[in-house]
Amino acid sequence: MELNDLGKISMLFGGDYNPEQWPEDSWQDDIDKLKRANINSATINVFSWALLEPREGEYDFTQLDRLFELLEKNGINVILATSTGALPMWMSTKYPEVNRVNVEGIKQKQGKRHNACPNSWLFQKLARQLVERIAKKYAKKGNLVAWHVSNEYEGYCYCNQCVEEFRQWLQNKYKNLSNLNQSWNSNFWSHTINDWNEIIPPMLTTDLFSNGKSVLSGAEIDYRRFQSESLLKNFMLEKKAIKKFDRNHPVTTNFMGSKKDIDYFKWAPHIDIISWDSYPMPDDKASKSAMEHDLMRGLKQKPFILMEQTPNQQNWYPFNKLKQPNEMRMLSYQALAHGANGINFFQLKQSRSGAEKFHGAVLTVGDAVNSRTYREVQKLGKELASLPTDLQDSKFKAEVAIVFDWESYWGLENSIGPLEELSYVDEVQRFYKAFYDSGISVDFVSKTTNLEGYTVVVAPVLYMWNDEFVANITKYVKSGGRFLTTYLSGIANENDQIFVEGYLSPLQKLLGIKIDERDARSENEAINIVSNKGRLLGKATGVCDLVISQGAKSVAHYGKEVFYSDCSAITVNDFEKGKAFYCGAGLDTTGMKNLIQQLVDGTSLDVVNSVNFEVSTRISNNKKYTFIINTIDQTQDVKISGIKGVDLLSNKELCEKIHLEPFGTVILKSEID
Ligand code: GLA
Ligand code: ZN
Repeated sequence: MELNDLGKISMLFGGDYNPEQWPEDSWQDDIDKLKRANINSATINVFSWALLEPREGEYDFTQLDRLFELLEKNGINVILATSTGALPMWMSTKYPEVNRVNVEGIKQKQGKRHNACPNSWLFQKLARQLVERIAKKYAKKGNLVAWHVSNEYEGYCYCNQCVEEFRQWLQNKYKNLSNLNQSWNSNFWSHTINDWNEIIPPMLTTDLFSNGKSVLSGAEIDYRRFQSESLLKNFMLEKKAIKKFDRNHPVTTNFMGSKKDIDYFKWAPHIDIISWDSYPMPDDKASKSAMEHDLMRGLKQKPFILMEQTPNQQNWYPFNKLKQPNEMRMLSYQALAHGANGINFFQLKQSRSGAEKFHGAVLTVGDAVNSRTYREVQKLGKELASLPTDLQDSKFKAEVAIVFDWESYWGLENSIGPLEELSYVDEVQRFYKAFYDSGISVDFVSKTTNLEGYTVVVAPVLYMWNDEFVANITKYVKSGGRFLTTYLSGIANENDQIFVEGYLSPLQKLLGIKIDERDARSENEAINIVSNKGRLLGKATGVCDLVISQGAKSVAHYGKEVFYSDCSAITVNDFEKGKAFYCGAGLDTTGMKNLIQQLVDGTSLDVVNSVNFEVSTRISNNKKYTFIINTIDQTQDVKISGIKGVDLLSNKELCEKIHLEPFGTVILKSEID
């Protein structure tokens, strides 16, 4: 098998399997039931370090051997994890330095998981030794399909080793203290650093406030960069240990969507195939899970693996609502529509005890095979197996790109003001959802992705701009692109220093506006947003920029109820062959819809109302796969002009009028001429 080429082996359909929590004589029965449910893959060995190495240097792989053989005999593919996601108790006890110190300054003694200090050389050494042995032993296994390093890298450590390494990292970056002090603007509140040893990361006993924001934003962002890089080094170390014995199978680690801790764009080039775990909140709109899939696909602009989802319910939300009949199927097809090659669950068999005993599973205790969940999994597995394999080589098609940036996420959320609570992801979602509800597909890109070919590029709340981004956008608009940026964008440089020439100043000519003042309004102080002809376009709350034209045309201004009704809320500027839009206010749904309409006006994109269903396209060579997904629990009849083909799930020839069952999906296959 070629690297990244999971597609050729048929759609992976499986999940985490932790049979070491159960008596071994139950394994065969599990596997029989899983096979009957059309499961063809198992992710194993995720948390088994203590079994594989019960005492330092003493290895025992006999149980894993038996499990591997059993799976092989039964034709089940294996995604093999490296087991380093949780430290064995002996290690935490014998070498306390492998344990993390948390943000409160408390040293973890042992236990839980995702708990290793990334800068502990002992942890690194012991992890490498283990992973090399695993790789050597299992690399040639016929049913191995991919490597899964550690598990859900997350969280930071604040121990002395990390502090020492951080100081070193800063010395490499800034060379001298004067550069560092300037970059962090550390004369603020007498924070000037006069000796490298005075540096301690922002934590609750130092510069972090109880609301999670810290005094010197530059220091906060640097610590996040440093920890994200430290964890990446851990991943790379294990990947190298695997590659020493196996150059063929792809190496992945399971990401967590828009989670804050790690700059996934920085990690992506080092990951052979992106995989991620999707756990939408029970009341999330379908646009949320769609957005997360698009973000994960965007990391490499390639298909990904859905590594985990629950087949019915989680156990870690305040309320763990059951997925409704067919909802899991709908969410699985949504993942596929947005670029997934492979649908996996957490987990294949319910835990009999422990912190996850109430988490959903394919095989529950009791009469598992007669459960609703089992039947739904079985049906989905059968359908997935029947899909054409070239679907997995296909590419998602989008003409709109949204820029996502972890550094802006960190910078924006560390800002104190203009609103107390500002969620970067929620603001991005506001823009994503407006496109989603208008039937327009979106790709996520980084600040430096080549934007050629996109009809529209949006940079919502892109708080921090660097030279590369400014050059990228300038090139894009010059050559005819349409660019929209928004409130709370272009505030600061990469060190979170406000642009002294003014907000947005690096793109001032391109945008043709300036902003001197910025209002922030509560939910019950909404302002009308009005077009030039006096039409009410929507309402705004939250941030409202007082936008002053410096050449741009005003598209909408604020209502008479505020003193700045002569200021624009939305502008557009013609710049060389392109157009640059600015949206200065947090718009409601109607306002967003009108904004999207303005943005795509005169392009090949159409706004169609698709609030409760989605249409997404994957294209492979000469084939087009159009997924039409009913995202609600009610029957819908939708009309999509120009669409026709054979539905792969019902084998019916369909044309324009599509009947959708509650949470139903249609996958139309058509030829591209
Ligand atoms: C994460 C982890 C799994 C499991 C699930 C439960 O995704 O990777 O080990 O804990 O959450 O939802
Ligand atoms: Zn540490």
